[in-house]
Amino acid sequence: MNTQWRAAYSVAAFAVAILAGTAPAQAQDPNAARALAATCFTCHGTEGRSVGDVPPSIAGREKAVLLQLLKDFRDGKRPATIMHQQAKGYTDAQFEFIAGYFANVKPAPARAGY
Ligand code: HEC
Repeated sequence: MNTQWRAAYSVAAFAVAILAGTAPAQAQDPNAARALAATCFTCHGTEGRSVGDVPPSIAGREKAVLLQLLKDFRDGKRPATIMHQQAKGYTDAQFEFIAGYFANVKPAPARAGY
């Protein structure tokens, strides 16, 4: 291999490494999931633990249930005052991240009076 070919080869190998690495790296990046989930904190409380359960607390709920709720809001199958708007524009893959994130958060301790 002459030098020119070697240079071209290493550039190509680098590009392949980047392309191959991108999707799995994102799928495993906990910060990517948290960044998506953080948009929900405004209403559902930090880490999804809402105060007094209004709006409903979503921390520590089962992933499959959250996923279905989100898809139903997005697809207009579940009546809502706000969530049908909030759920718009997300892909199923992004919902997977979000539902997985909240499912892994410890729920708020039960409180007397709520
Ligand atoms: C502007 C406030 C607001 C934001 C932001 C918001 N939500 Fe909601 N959410 C609500 C309200 C209010 C409800 C109750 C249903 C309704 O009336 O829309 C709700 C309901 C839900 C429910 C159903 C809970 C149940 O037990 O019925 C889920 C799941 C949920 N939200 C997830 C999310 C996720 C995930 C995000 C971020 C992508 C998010 N929400 C962002 C206000 C919000």
